[in-house]
Parts: sequence; C-alpha cells; structure tokens
Amino acid sequence: MPLAITDLPHLNAALNAATIALLIAAFVAIRSGDRQRHKRLMLAALVVSAAFLTSYLIYHFNSGLAKFGGEGLIRPAYFTLLILHVIAAIAITPLVPIAVYRALTKDFAGHRRIVRYTWPLWMYVAVSGIAVYVMAIHLFPDPAGPYAMLEQPLLTGSDRG
Ligand code: HEM
Repeated sequence: MPLAITDLPHLNAALNAATIALLIAAFVAIRSGDRQRHKRLMLAALVVSAAFLTSYLIYHFNSGLAKFGGEGLIRPAYFTLLILHVIAAIAITPLVPIAVYRALTKDFAGHRRIVRYTWPLWMYVAVSGIAVYVMAIHLFPDPAGPYAMLEQPLLTGSDRG
C-alpha cells in the first residue's frame, strides 16, 4: 500500500520520537564516558533527522500547515508552542552541522561549547514537534479536517490520500 500524503504527519511524529530516544541515549553515553557509543547514536540521530526533514518538506509542500481547530486559551498556547518550535528548528539548522564538524575534526572543546545550546534546542524541536502534532491532528483538529490541502498539490492521484 503506497504511503499517502496524509500519512506523513504520523510518520514525522514517529521520527521525532526516535530522535528524542537517540538524543537521550547519546547524552547518557557521553556522561558515562563512552565516546564511541555517543558518536554512533548522534550519527543515527542525524540520519533520522534527515529522513524527517525529507518527509516534512514533502508534506508541507503538498498540504500547507495543519489547521488548528481549538478555541479559547488553547489557541494562543498552541501558536506560542508552534512559533517557538519553528524558531528553534531554524536555529539548530546551522548549529547541528557545526557541532558534528567540530566533533569529527576532534575540536572537542568547541564541540562542548556549541552542544550546550544545540542539544537542548534540538530536544525542544523534537518534543514540541510531537506536541504540535498531537494538538493539531488528534486533540483539536479543524472541524473541516486538519489538512489544509493546496488547490493544486505537487503530488497527484493516490499520493494525496
Ligand atoms: C549534533 C550532534 C551532536 C550533539 C548534539 C552532541 C551532544 C553532546 C553533548 C550534550 C555532550 C556533553 C557535553 C558536556 O558534557 O558538557 C557531548 C560531548 C562529546 N561529544 Fe557530542 N554530540 C554530537 C555529535 C558528536 C559526534 C558525531 C561525535 C564524535 C565524532 C561526538 C563526540 C563527543 C565527545 C568526544 C564528547 C566529549 C567532549 C569532552 O567532554 O571533552 N559528538 N556531545
């Protein structure tokens, strides 16, 4: 069965959950002094994030933003979470490659300095990504449906779901 565009938010949430697990495991590994395990887990987190970014971009180019149907105080709460999620996601885009470059070139002092911000921001992006997904798709979807499809999606036919 081919994957439909409307399946992608669920896949994205699963990839975010995998990122959270890998970030925690990599942190535990480095705290217990296992550098090799830390390296493997962080490189795995990078691969998962690359898969996430691909799926995320395909989804948003085809269906825009999920429509939020919540009313009252939950609305500003949701949009604050969403705006901070987007800002943090933009912030980690250059930070992650710099952190990895420093680690791979053995500039561990520089790596330590940058990951002080990179790790918590990355974690926030993954956790808030799942929170946004649960709120917009499951808890408070728009009554007309959570998916704001474009008039002319880039993918057509069965891909649209
Ligand atoms: C973006 C990806 C990465 C993140 C977010 C990250 C995160 C971290 C964190 C949170 C620490 C602990 C710093 C501290 O105790 O204050 C650390 C240390 C370390 N990381 Fe990474 N890491 C990443 C990628 C890598 C990679 C790919 C390698 C291996 C080549 C690596 C090697 C190390 C080493 C050796 C340390 C110990 C540094 C020291 O204590 O002097 N890291 N990293």
